[in-house]
Amino acid sequence: QQASQPAAAKVLKVGAEATFPPFEFQDEKSQDYVGFDVDLMKALGKQMGVEVQIVNTAFDGLIPALESGQIDVIASAMTITEERAQKVNFSKPYYKSGLSIVVKADNNTIKSFKDLEGKRIAVQIGTTGAEQAKKIKDAKIREFNSASEAFLELKAGGADAVVNDLPVNEYFLAKNASKDAKLIGEVLNAEEYGVAVAKKNTELARKINKALDEIKQNGEYAKIYEKWFGK
Ligand code: ARG
Repeated sequence: QQASQPAAAKVLKVGAEATFPPFEFQDEKSQDYVGFDVDLMKALGKQMGVEVQIVNTAFDGLIPALESGQIDVIASAMTITEERAQKVNFSKPYYKSGLSIVVKADNNTIKSFKDLEGKRIAVQIGTTGAEQAKKIKDAKIREFNSASEAFLELKAGGADAVVNDLPVNEYFLAKNASKDAKLIGEVLNAEEYGVAVAKKNTELARKINKALDEIKQNGEYAKIYEKWFGK
């Protein structure tokens, strides 16, 4: 069992589903957890005087892990939604995102979310992308534990499209220098990511918001942003 005051602990356990580059993923060589969220949490930890430790957790297991005290914080490119906010305490938004579609390069029929009607859509389980896909008429949804598995399904021909966070889609396409996949221009639902703590942990939420303000003021946030997204 966790101590009842994780905010006072020296090590902050940060839950993340760590196959979501450029936000959280493992460095191929060192196997260290890296990414925008990892650097952000390290910077926040530094301001708060605590160490951070990434705990790789299935995306749909993050909120339960927070509720049961297995982790102290979620930093996993998690979109602030009303539904989630009933279970967790979100920090102020720290990143603006949105949903977009990836299709095979030779697909000329899917040009917007409207065109996804009746199509096979691959998504990561428990995400806002999955939620969005489920609203599309007659779509057949294939849910995977990671976004990379959803991309593989597209490549293998088992899905017509992937619906996922725009910056992750962009990173995937850039990294794979993909000739076989492309991004559709339409971006949906301006979404914002927040760091989450347990509902009752208002003190830690306050500290995280304070630290966020501080790293925005001292230039650390801008540095991290530039490192992962350029100017
Ligand atoms: N932003 C989306 C959501 O909150 C997807 C996040 C997935 N994050 C991850 N680390 N796999 O549902």
